[in-house]
Amino acid sequence: MVVTVDGPAGSGKSSASRLLAQELGFAFLDTGALYRAIALAARRDGMLEAGEAELAAWLKQVPLEAKSQGGRFVVFLDGQDVEPFIRNEAISQLASRLSALAPVREHLLGLQRAAGRAGDLVAEGRDMGTVVFPGAEAKFFLTAGESERAHRRWLELTQSGQQVDMADVLADLRLRDQRDSQRSLSPLRPAEDAVVLDTTPLSLSEVVAALAQKVRERRAGAPR
Ligand code: DC
Repeated sequence: MVVTVDGPAGSGKSSASRLLAQELGFAFLDTGALYRAIALAARRDGMLEAGEAELAAWLKQVPLEAKSQGGRFVVFLDGQDVEPFIRNEAISQLASRLSALAPVREHLLGLQRAAGRAGDLVAEGRDMGTVVFPGAEAKFFLTAGESERAHRRWLELTQSGQQVDMADVLADLRLRDQRDSQRSLSPLRPAEDAVVLDTTPLSLSEVVAALAQKVRERRAGAPR
């Protein structure tokens, strides 16, 4: 079974999806990490201003992998776990920019779908329910008010030891929201059959409980 969770930055989708996967005993795939890893590699290899044809050729030789480890897919670049290098605002913005380009989206499609064939999966991102797993058995779209999302993002960054200003976090979030939802390829939007949940007033455990409940209903054969 594939469960998709889409939504904008700070909507709580990453934390909720990770915990939902644990609760259900499903694997967890954070597709933003794949876009972030490509941003990291593109910056390192001087490919940030490359044209689409050049980018497509370059992508073919980027050693990027998503390996299932302990219930989640870990993203490796050159055999190294990228996690310590991708959770910062510079990479967020580069990932958002590069994710609007066709060669990048096409390149990642196969990798993401392969994760879906490997077994039960919770996949989170921007286009999981609309493009990558349109046939998923349960789809969610999480939202939250802009200032709540900026606050969550600020907390996440400061708790990981980064010095960031709330006003800058809000400005970056707005820029990313606009780019991710207005691009022509796979823009951020709820799938027609997604359950939309506003997480603004909810705690993380309340969000996870609501999602788990819906998935169980679907598994038991409840209509959409
Ligand atoms: O979920 P995230 O913040 O880690 O994602 C980083 C960027 O990657 C996001 O701004 C847009 C892009 N992205 C995407 O276009 N499609 C996805 N499925 C996941 C992420």
